[in-house]
Amino acid sequence: MTDFNNTRWADQEFAKQYRDNANIYIVERQRMFGIMRSFFRHFVSGKKNIRVLDLGCGDGIVTRNILDVDNSISATLVDASDDMLEKAKERLKGFENADYIKATFQEIIEDGLPVRDYDIVLSSMAIHHLTMDEKSRFFRAINAQLRPDGHFINIDVVLPPTDILDGWYMKIWEEWMTEKRAELKAYDEPSADVIARYKDGEENQPDRLEDQLDALRAAGFRDADCYYKYGIFVVYGGTKGEAVYFPDI
Ligand SMILES: C[S@@+](CC[C@H](N)C(=O)[O-])C[C@H]1O[C@@H](n2cnc3c(N)ncnc32)[C@H](O)[C@@H]1O
Repeated sequence: MTDFNNTRWADQEFAKQYRDNANIYIVERQRMFGIMRSFFRHFVSGKKNIRVLDLGCGDGIVTRNILDVDNSISATLVDASDDMLEKAKERLKGFENADYIKATFQEIIEDGLPVRDYDIVLSSMAIHHLTMDEKSRFFRAINAQLRPDGHFINIDVVLPPTDILDGWYMKIWEEWMTEKRAELKAYDEPSADVIARYKDGEENQPDRLEDQLDALRAAGFRDADCYYKYGIFVVYGGTKGEAVYFPDI
């Protein structure tokens, strides 16, 4: 099993650099949040007493996005980093219906979380830190936390299926960061360095999209699909329950 304390996320400087630059590092980050909000609006909004679980919450940006759609929700935010949980509390100051839990994904795989009736589980840019075996087990753990017909949606990075595609996806990622820096007038860290850091980082364990969708189905999710994709950046998810297929005509 991977150990959170041996990853760079346990380093406060590394975490701050991510928070300060996430809109540059992550291709179409705001669009992917928009897709998550749309998913929430379409599948969850309108219900009573909606419970949301945000896994690897970082500074709380995902829950913040959902609050912009529906501020009557209650939310549980989980992260292994005290520093990130503090930043999430700051961002969500004034939102009373929130619980903050310090836990690693590995602990959730082993023990689950106390509440087991979430309407939706959300995650962004965190699950790629797990090995494929851990991802499969984590998807089962997530399924167990959901109500029947509850939803799961994840923004993340995935492993390209071939080296040729990897070459192109890295190129479009580099182009995005270069354009975004010029637009935001941000400091000029070479885009190639960010990519090298991602590729060299032992904490990054991206797996192929197809394998993760298969693992979701095996974990008890229906309607598992990729809802958006741009190079290695994806939004995917599913709904708890048995798949219903139309019979052949
Ligand atoms: C790239 S940040 C993403 C934060 C936020 N969701 C966002 O989209 O900006 C990854 C987060 O996952 C957390 N994390 C990484 N590995 C973890 C693990 N094994 N268990 C729990 N949290 C983990 C880190 O502390 C960090 O807050």
